[in-house]
Amino acid sequence: MRVLIIGNGGREHALAWKISQSPDCSQLYIAPGNPGTSELGENIAIDPMDFNALMAFCEKNQVDLVIVGPEAPLVAGIVDTFRSNPSTKDINIIGPDAKGAQLEGSKAFAKDFMIRNKIPTAKYIEITLENIAEGYRFISGSHPPYVLKADGLAGGKGVLIVNDEASARANLLDMLNGSFGHASKKVVIEEYLNGIEFSVFILSDGHQYALLPEAKDYKRIGEGDIGLNTGGMGAVSPVPFADDILMEKVRKRIIEPTISGLEAMGITYRGFIFFGLMVVEGEPFVIEYNCRMGDPETEVVLPRISNDILPILKGAAQGNLDHKTIQISPFTATTVMLVSGGYPQEYKKGYQITLDYNKDESTLFHAGTTVNSQGQLVTSGGRVLAVTSISDKGTEALQRSLLTAEKIQFEGKYYRRDIGFDLDLI
Ligand code: AMP
Ligand code: GLY
Repeated sequence: MRVLIIGNGGREHALAWKISQSPDCSQLYIAPGNPGTSELGENIAIDPMDFNALMAFCEKNQVDLVIVGPEAPLVAGIVDTFRSNPSTKDINIIGPDAKGAQLEGSKAFAKDFMIRNKIPTAKYIEITLENIAEGYRFISGSHPPYVLKADGLAGGKGVLIVNDEASARANLLDMLNGSFGHASKKVVIEEYLNGIEFSVFILSDGHQYALLPEAKDYKRIGEGDIGLNTGGMGAVSPVPFADDILMEKVRKRIIEPTISGLEAMGITYRGFIFFGLMVVEGEPFVIEYNCRMGDPETEVVLPRISNDILPILKGAAQGNLDHKTIQISPFTATTVMLVSGGYPQEYKKGYQITLDYNKDESTLFHAGTTVNSQGQLVTSGGRVLAVTSISDKGTEALQRSLLTAEKIQFEGKYYRRDIGFDLDLI
């Protein structure tokens, strides 16, 4: 099978790592990929938003399966574009069409979808400049903290949680006036849910689904989960509190109604769904949907899948997950993200990276690296490298990731030493 992965982060490196182990993978391309993926397949210098170039590449190279890593091309309709072109319409693609991607592309769409399908989620209201007075009333009628969400894609930064009413009102007005550009011309205000978060992932073929290992990520920059939000500073899988009772509730109340709700709208969803959940007193609520895998969650989810994932991906893309199961290892996987000093605010790029570590201890997934004109591996992003380790003991996996994190060197390197701190890892 000739496979193309679209994207260039740690998630795509982890996908390439897993897929390249498949005996069915005869050729692996990554567009545009990174220095890590170049060791597993062929990097292709095409931008994920350049659909015409991607289609021409797939046609010329007889690609059988395309896996779309990030959300932006999905929300912009990459799947619809492939389908509308006679030479690419039959290529198998992992990822929903633009309608299905609205689960992530529009918070208002997702909230309305959940309410119509009786999927537990926080109470909300949808506001534009026209009905801002209703927004102010919703704020005065609820308790702090107040949760304001830009409707559209805002690079993971479109959610504000504010403690006082005056700031909530001021932020609402700013957002509607475009503080997040077009994405916040519409705003969802919702009730604050006080609980513990974790994430569940499925691969859907449009009717059936396969459950992947669950994970917990650590979004804040500072230890103890404080400070600014980032793309994710680390992740752990499995999540000890996600027991059978909780997962049965997630399946019955959240996953199954999501699939049947999509089918009822005529959406044949063939791809990953990432459910961001909040557990409040033992009951799961949906905080957000994503139409793709998480990053850095993928870096702990895939290492726990013990069988070949390629036939399962192909089955999902072809609408046939019959008799295909994902085998999950009971081991714990941990990932610690090494980031550039200053991230998630201003940071410098171009620092040389020294990869001196023990390969038996950890696996590295490149997130923000590049090779400079002198052939040196250097930093090129805020999140630089994901250090994943796996062990039958969670504490040991963490220790290994931290040991490797310490050994790898680049100027300004920062990482959290407390990933998994709130879980009872044993
Ligand atoms: P989102 O982009 O929707 O995942 O939101 C970003 C983060 O904001 C989530 O990971 C939560 O930590 C937090 N958050 C979002 N919605 C709520 C809510 N209704 N109650 C509490 N926290 C929330
Ligand atoms: N780590 C969060 C995300 O991928 O959205």
